[in-house]
Amino acid sequence: MAAQGAGRPNMRQALESAGAHFLNLVEIGIVKTFIDYKVFDQIVDEGDIAISEVAVKVGGEEALLERFSNYLIAAGILASTAPGRIAHTERSRAYRTGEIAAGFIVHVYNLFLRPMARWTEYFETNGLAEPKDAHKIPLGLATGHPDSDMYGVLDAEPKLAVLFNRAQAGSASIYSLKGVYDFGWLQKAPTQPGERPAIVDIGGGSGLALRDILVDNPFVPPEQCAVLDLPKTIEQTKSQLNEDLRSVRLIGGTMFETLPQPVRGALIYQFRRVLSDFLDNAIVQALKQVREACAPDSRVLIIEELLHPNQSKFSLAQDISVMNFGGKRRSEAMFRKLAAQAGFNVNAVYRGPATDFGVVELLPA
Ligand SMILES: C[S@@+](CC[C@H](N)C(=O)[O-])C[C@H]1O[C@@H](n2cnc3c(N)ncnc32)[C@H](O)[C@@H]1O
Repeated sequence: MAAQGAGRPNMRQALESAGAHFLNLVEIGIVKTFIDYKVFDQIVDEGDIAISEVAVKVGGEEALLERFSNYLIAAGILASTAPGRIAHTERSRAYRTGEIAAGFIVHVYNLFLRPMARWTEYFETNGLAEPKDAHKIPLGLATGHPDSDMYGVLDAEPKLAVLFNRAQAGSASIYSLKGVYDFGWLQKAPTQPGERPAIVDIGGGSGLALRDILVDNPFVPPEQCAVLDLPKTIEQTKSQLNEDLRSVRLIGGTMFETLPQPVRGALIYQFRRVLSDFLDNAIVQALKQVREACAPDSRVLIIEELLHPNQSKFSLAQDISVMNFGGKRRSEAMFRKLAAQAGFNVNAVYRGPATDFGVVELLPA
């Protein structure tokens, strides 16, 4: 038997590895289609159902559903009790409408798989490089808006915007600052009711991050807090406003322009899960606007998943995913560099316990 040459790939292993990529793609295609057509919802929780019956219920062709089901049975995602019949497994139950895993698959499909399918064309046109222009992104190419930035794409694709916002809301609670960042210093800060703003959440969206802070730190006066976000987002926030946020100021605007009077000189400016969606130059521009609005004792909190050595594969995959819309995960050192360009120093970095998120606290230089 001939010895394997050093450095020569083992053909069987190589094919198995390549085949695994292929199987993952087939799987996500079928699972996504079954989620779209609510096939998993039709399967009774206990017991089984005929594929022919499912086909009638979802308005699909039995032959196709059988073919797709056969794959999912072989993959262990569905079970089969008899020919032509399917039953749930723990894995398929997680893909019923409203389940987090189902939302995640749809999100990955739209914001990763679709843009990724255009990478060849994207790199041929733009060079093998990270997006350098927010208006030239793989997501734009994939959705038929090749000159739009991410928010332009979401404006033009309301269904995609709903899915995007749902995914953000679904993961919001994992970034709790309780036990991570101590807001206690606000109690000693020179502010009186009706005076300078306490916390301004820039890109605060639904305001739920601010709400958590207010609940955990009852000494922070809500009427001295604000959410500044794009006018469209603020409209949406107002239409479904959480009870606890009734006295918070909701201000439509953009972080790329001079901050309006009511949010100038705040004690804290917070950017949570906002800056990773942008290119370096945009981040510097936004931070410069905040710097210009700061009082000497203002602090800025950047709350993001921070890259670090020993990063999990999942976290690195998410970094690649946000590249599709011009985003990027950054390390503390990368934020430090951008902050310096905008006139800030990093005062401290606090890390969340379970996930990779952290808080980079900046002080005006
Ligand atoms: C990923 S969401 C994060 C929402 C919220 N901070 C959270 O952690 O749940 C990004 C937010 O940034 C907002 N945003 C995008 N561009 C903005 C801009 N130019 N100025 C202010 N906010 C912006 C979006 O409308 C959205 O609410």
